[in-house]
Amino acid sequence: MFSIDSKKLTEFAIIAGTAVSCYYLMTMPSPDAIGANFDKKAQAKSDHNVKRILEDNPDLANNLKNLNTYEKKILADVFIPNSKSTRFKDIAGIDDILEDLYENVIIPLQEFGVDKKQLNKDLKERFGHLVENGLLEAPKGVLLYGPPGTGKSLTAKAVATECNAAFINISISTLLSSYYGESSKLVKALFTVADRIKPCVIFIDEIDSVFKTRSDTDHEVTSKMKSEFLSLIDGLETDGGILMMGATNRRTDIDEAFLRRMPKQYKIGLPDKEAREKILSLYIQNIPLENGLSIKLIAENTSGFSGSDLKEICRNAINNMVKEYRKLPSSKHKDIRPLTAEDFGLTDMPFFLD
Ligand SMILES: Nc1ncnc2c1ncn2[C@@H]1O[C@H](COP(=O)(O)OP(=O)(O)OP(=O)(O)O)[C@@H](O)[C@H]1O
Ligand SMILES: [Mg+2]
Repeated sequence: MFSIDSKKLTEFAIIAGTAVSCYYLMTMPSPDAIGANFDKKAQAKSDHNVKRILEDNPDLANNLKNLNTYEKKILADVFIPNSKSTRFKDIAGIDDILEDLYENVIIPLQEFGVDKKQLNKDLKERFGHLVENGLLEAPKGVLLYGPPGTGKSLTAKAVATECNAAFINISISTLLSSYYGESSKLVKALFTVADRIKPCVIFIDEIDSVFKTRSDTDHEVTSKMKSEFLSLIDGLETDGGILMMGATNRRTDIDEAFLRRMPKQYKIGLPDKEAREKILSLYIQNIPLENGLSIKLIAENTSGFSGSDLKEICRNAINNMVKEYRKLPSSKHKDIRPLTAEDFGLTDMPFFLD
């Protein structure tokens, strides 16, 4: 006779129950899951950004209605350029790259970016066919690559300011949220937010940390996020006023599929002597130097330094001088001393030419 073993039945029920719960936990994040990551501070920043965008562009009011939680989270990372934001004039020693970016990215983005109707009439009459083919439009993606501290992030930010575009600097860790299914929702939100507030530059720093050559060991969430990202880039209309920018120290490690979507690529290398002089001038042009010391001499003695290193030695030198100035009685405040080679740490260098 067929009989039911109650112990086995209980075991079966427990196993089935556990499997269903696991499946549910893996596939259905609780509606509050993102809420846990989206703290009050981020919420306030997001609301503040929406307010700022609307102050400058009241006609975007409709675009910024009915935002979902993921879009609100992305909006917390939006930067709206203001009069103090980094511009091209704040970057030295890479004039050729900035000029090329200006002509090939910024001007097309301004002319063809948001609304073709605004296109210069003369240009439209002469080159209308090229506009239709998309050949005069800005490239979809721009990659900046090179050693650390050479001004890649600075340049991406300045591109947004020069285009008067919003800047979304998204960190890979924000996108690679630990909740299953959440990463792709955030990636989608990144693109829908950019579309709502365009013109907009989406900047992904350290792209090699995610878009490195695909491997079988990729976590499922990472692979899904990557494919989602690539297909969303494909869906971008080049005349849509959204520009993707990426930066990396290791271009050779990046997935071919991603590189293909960043057709304009600029290598920003370590500055040569002339570029170092220009960077130093940017920071200490009007500051007196001791007899025998010049910007040229500092540039000659800082081979291998990045823009960031140069800024750092200028900062140290100025701090040394200001530290002493603070200790002086106010009657002596007018005697500001010039900066010395020692302030710049040059006397410690083996090749210091004096
Ligand atoms: N060419 C430059 N002109 C003026 N300042 C520069 C230049 N390059 C670097 N700097 C200074 O160094 C800082 C760091 O530069 P930035 O963060 O843009 O480097 P990066 O190339 O993005 O480095 P990483 O690869 O480490 O991210 C800048 O904020 C700026 O103050
Ligand atoms: Mg950077």
